[in-house]
Amino acid sequence: MNNPQLNKHGELQHLLSTEGLPVSILRDILDRTASFVNVAAGSEIKKVPLLHGKSVFNLFFENSTRTRTTFEIAAKRLSADVVNLNIGSSSSSKGETLLDTVDNLCAMHADMFVVRHSQSGAAHLIARHVAPRIHVINAGDGRHAHPTQALLDMFTIRHYKKEFHNLRVVIVGDILHSRVARSQIHALTTLGVPEVRVIAPRTLLPACVERLGVHVYHDMLQGLREVDVVMMLRLQNERMQGALLPSAQEYFKYYGLTQEKLALAKADAIVMHPGPMNRGVEIDSSVADGTHSVILPQVTFGIAVRMAAMSMLAGK
Ligand code: CP
Repeated sequence: MNNPQLNKHGELQHLLSTEGLPVSILRDILDRTASFVNVAAGSEIKKVPLLHGKSVFNLFFENSTRTRTTFEIAAKRLSADVVNLNIGSSSSSKGETLLDTVDNLCAMHADMFVVRHSQSGAAHLIARHVAPRIHVINAGDGRHAHPTQALLDMFTIRHYKKEFHNLRVVIVGDILHSRVARSQIHALTTLGVPEVRVIAPRTLLPACVERLGVHVYHDMLQGLREVDVVMMLRLQNERMQGALLPSAQEYFKYYGLTQEKLALAKADAIVMHPGPMNRGVEIDSSVADGTHSVILPQVTFGIAVRMAAMSMLAGK
């Protein structure tokens, strides 16, 4: 089957999901990211001209702090012209369809769209619709995928752990509603992590999740043992229908990461979270702000990862 993310030469045309991306492309993005980490405020090199003359449109139909802002910073560091469409005051509130909005922005000579949408498949829909010279990046669609989050997570793991082939990684929390978890699992297994675990109550796991190549645990005290990397997830209350949990307090008791539970992981384990965090629900403040936490470095690496993805899409 054709991969909608690749052109006929096998090069990245759109970045929609980590599922189905060849390991060579994943590694290429991580290697490029390393070269962009130093193009930053405080360093000698503040900008590179790789996207000079290109227009990047940020279309965020759902709220975002980290993804939208780091895409904007990344595009500006690549010297692109950046347009942040204010969806609340755009004509989508007057009934304009998503594809009509996109057609109008294409008429303004858009070169790249960065799309976040509550509907799974929205970025794919735009990618299928636009002319081949235009590139689409999925910045999170429903519960389906969030590829640049997973890529910045992979870069963070490689930064601290150097290799993937000797790691035990666990993802903890609301796997069922998490686009981040899905993208992380595909990226981790493609990059050769030999043991990927998930820990969640039965009500927060997708059916047949084992088919993704993960080991399932319901008991945090078992699943955290001897892991190298702990990736925490937020309860995605906005995507839950009905009560899947007794209460936030009960959830924290069994699935919240505390110092005591973290002591079951390896002594040099790192703790990650894509944000936004709910302190006291999935993670205790002493862990979020503690010495094992790499949560804020994840955010910083997000800029370089997004520079890498955009420059690769632009063929630079
Ligand atoms: N991790 C993440 O996607 O955060 P935002 O919703 O703030 O972009």
